[in-house]
Amino acid sequence: MLATEKQYVQWHENETLRHARWLSQSNQVPPARIVLVDDKTTADEAYRLACAGTSMLWHGDFQNARQLLQALTRRIERSELRKSIKAANKSAESAKLASESLVLPKVIPNLFHQQRQAQTQRSRVLSRLLLELGKGYVSQLRRAPDVSAACTAAFGQLDEKIDESCLLSFRDLQGALGAAGWRAKGVPIENLGLSIFPHYGVFAPTRHEYVQLLLDAPLPNEHDVAFDIGTGTGLLAIILAQRGVKQVIATDLNPRALSCASENFVRLELPAVQLQQADLFPTDAPLANLIVCNPPWLPAKPTSPLEYGVYDANSAMLRGFLQGAKQRLAEQGEVWLILSDLAEHLQLRSRDELLVWFADAGLEVKYRLDTHPKHGRSQDNTDPLFAARSAEITSLWCLVPFNN
Ligand SMILES: C[S@@+](CC[C@H](N)C(=O)[O-])C[C@H]1O[C@@H](n2cnc3c(N)ncnc32)[C@H](O)[C@@H]1O
Repeated sequence: MLATEKQYVQWHENETLRHARWLSQSNQVPPARIVLVDDKTTADEAYRLACAGTSMLWHGDFQNARQLLQALTRRIERSELRKSIKAANKSAESAKLASESLVLPKVIPNLFHQQRQAQTQRSRVLSRLLLELGKGYVSQLRRAPDVSAACTAAFGQLDEKIDESCLLSFRDLQGALGAAGWRAKGVPIENLGLSIFPHYGVFAPTRHEYVQLLLDAPLPNEHDVAFDIGTGTGLLAIILAQRGVKQVIATDLNPRALSCASENFVRLELPAVQLQQADLFPTDAPLANLIVCNPPWLPAKPTSPLEYGVYDANSAMLRGFLQGAKQRLAEQGEVWLILSDLAEHLQLRSRDELLVWFADAGLEVKYRLDTHPKHGRSQDNTDPLFAARSAEITSLWCLVPFNN
């Protein structure tokens, strides 16, 4: 999933050749060119350097680096706005030409892919601002906070014998600090009256309208054994255990998810929920009365640990899950698939395609429960994907085997 081999980076500082361990959560290669920057560097200069592919090692005040990142973000946003006005004018022009000459306009490139490209470019530019952390992830920068615990939780222990220091982007550091905040205060799940504590790199259920679907769906008459495939923080397994399923087996590919889910189970005194690191289904498990899965809902390639909860390249997990479910079901067993239809609104997958996948897996729809997401982005009409986001429906598809 992520590069595990250690990488090192070197740069010149006052005519001395320095080197350090390179940390990048989006697997970016170590920068080839690094210049030193500090409080005297202007935002325009830094923006020019970053756009030209030069990485900048910050030597100034820690808090000023945060302001510089904000200034860079504003410049990127202005540039994105200029590009989108240009694109809108161009498409209005080609629509006008088409109406005059009856020539069909070129297919407008998919908005979703444009957005992803813009995000990648934004992240590339912002990730050019680097900082050095010494042994134990200690920063020597002026006004630097204590980031050791957050970095250890996110990136693991540094090997103190070999790794004197490391270089990473301020952006990755901010990700680690943000995750440490969620882990400490938890995500309240109102319908359950409890909080879930996500770890760094684990899908955080900050939008969790689907929880009500899991609470409303009637359990199959027999509900001794259930699987939660791709458990993340363990949220769905917790709901099943609290609803009275006797044996819940939860799996995930991501080792961070397993330790996170385990911590949540212990916190909620549900130690009987079993965990397995597995690609989809557990091994050596009994047949299940219920198999639940909330797969990543957009077919696209993930590029960072967090994106593994959202993007599923070629819908591989979704299709693998559907294909393998029937043979693991006990008699009268049910599959509950939680899936947003955002991919359909973005024309990344059609409803017919999904229904064919159900049928090819020997499954038919017993019933479906729907909910409308209420999270911030679905209400934000400045978001370029607003039309799709505001029409999104998340469903619990109850699927059962058909006899052919
Ligand atoms: C959308 S998140 C859902 C997490 C959790 N079930 C929830 O509802 O909050 C999808 C999860 O599937 C996991 N996953 C992705 N591919 C997987 C695979 N092939 N096998 C097992 N888990 C996988 C991801 O690591 C992630 O935790």
